[in-house]
This record gives sequence, structure tokens and C-alpha cells, in this order.
Amino acid sequence: EALSQPLLPLYYGWFLTHESGHHLKSLCNKFLKVMKELSEDKKHVEEFSLKSGEKPIDFETFHHEGPLHCTTKYCDYGSAEGASEYSEKKAVKDNYGAAFKLAIEALFITPRTLGARVKLTKDQLLLWPEDDEEQCNASLPFGSRAHITLGVAPGVQDVQTGIDLLEMVSMMQKGDKCEMVSEVSEGKLSYFRQDRWMLELNKKEEVKSVFSGYYS
Ligand code: A2P
Repeated sequence: EALSQPLLPLYYGWFLTHESGHHLKSLCNKFLKVMKELSEDKKHVEEFSLKSGEKPIDFETFHHEGPLHCTTKYCDYGSAEGASEYSEKKAVKDNYGAAFKLAIEALFITPRTLGARVKLTKDQLLLWPEDDEEQCNASLPFGSRAHITLGVAPGVQDVQTGIDLLEMVSMMQKGDKCEMVSEVSEGKLSYFRQDRWMLELNKKEEVKSVFSGYYS
């Protein structure tokens, strides 16, 4: 029997297909390998200390649970502000279950998080929530937070990945980032102080996904 009230998910987002998830993970492993090689190259000792405070960052301890996805709206089963308004949006209803190609434009890593930056198209931005406060406060372009969390350090929550990305995007906008450090075959690698790095890909990687809600 159908419920009279709609059920709201933990979050809405684009969920990567099995194949695309696999592809993105192997891209990330290449990125980590490049980082490791550069850290062993004496030229860049300063930026590549790969330390968080006094502790070396160990990417091996980064982990991610659940399906790889790009969150649009965090709903917390309806408790989050704006959750039901979002679920009622025409674009959300019309696109529920539809397949999308997402463009990955960069990979980034900090002592806390490892993520992929997603460049949303105009159509995809119709599914982006209007009430992203941090993004508004930093007056960043709509959809700046779009990302896929690939890993977080022990004790760190997934939500941190978007916060780390917004900080880096904000620094990029102000022209406040360390010079490009290295041109590797995959793209341009930039350093942002405090052990934060972004690899802007020469060629955007496309991943396949389905727009849906996550209910468990
Ligand atoms: P992200 O989108 O960076 O991966 P959790 O398991 O912690 O409840 O989170 C479920 C998903 O919702 C994760 O994908 C997480 O981060 C995202 N998320 C959690 N809290 C928020 C929030 N306050 N704003 C936006 N996204 C959130």
C-alpha cells in the first residue's frame, strides 16, 4: 500500500555507475601516486611535506563508505532546512531516476579529505539547491561545492570534503594560491598552503550517473 506522506531521503544526488566509480577510483590512485613521487623529489620538499601538523598524512588511512555520488541536497530524512521544498521542485521530480554524464574537472586532497570537483552543466544546475549557505557567504558561483567524496581521514565526516573544496575555490577566485607547482601528464597541480592540493585535469573526465535519493 502506498504511503500518504512522501518519504524524504538522507540526501539527493547523482550516483555513479559501477563502471564509472571504478574508473574514478583508478584516476585517484594515479593522482596519489603522482603526489607521492613529487614528495620524494627534493625540489619540492617545502610544499610536499605531506604533514598535518607534525603528523605525516597517510592516504592509506583515508576511507569512504557507501556509494560514490555527488550530493545535491542533504535532507537528513526531512529534518534539514529546505528538504521538503527541494523534493517538491519540478526539476527534482522530472529527473528522478534519469541518467546523467558528470564532468570531473579536478581532483583535490587535503589532510582531511580526498575529492573530485564536478563541473555542472546548466541543466544539472537546475537540480542544485538554492540554499547553499556557505557558498553564498563566500559569494562563489552557484554549484561551486559540487564534488564527489572519495575518502576522508579517520574521524572526519564526509561533509568536510565540500567545505575543503569551497575554501580552495574561494582562494582561487582571489588569486590567492601558490603558483602551479608541477605540470604532470594528467594536468596542472596547484598548492594552496596547509597541505591542500588540486590537480586541474587537462581533459575533463566523464562519469555516468543516475539522479536519485539515498534512503538507508
Ligand atoms: P559529501 O557530499 O561531501 O560526500 P552523512 O553520511 O555524513 O550523513 O552524509 C551523507 C552525504 O550527505 C554525504 O555525501 C555528505 O557529504 C553529505 N552531507 C552531509 N551533511 C551535509 C551538509 N550539511 N551539507 C551538504 N552535504 C552534506
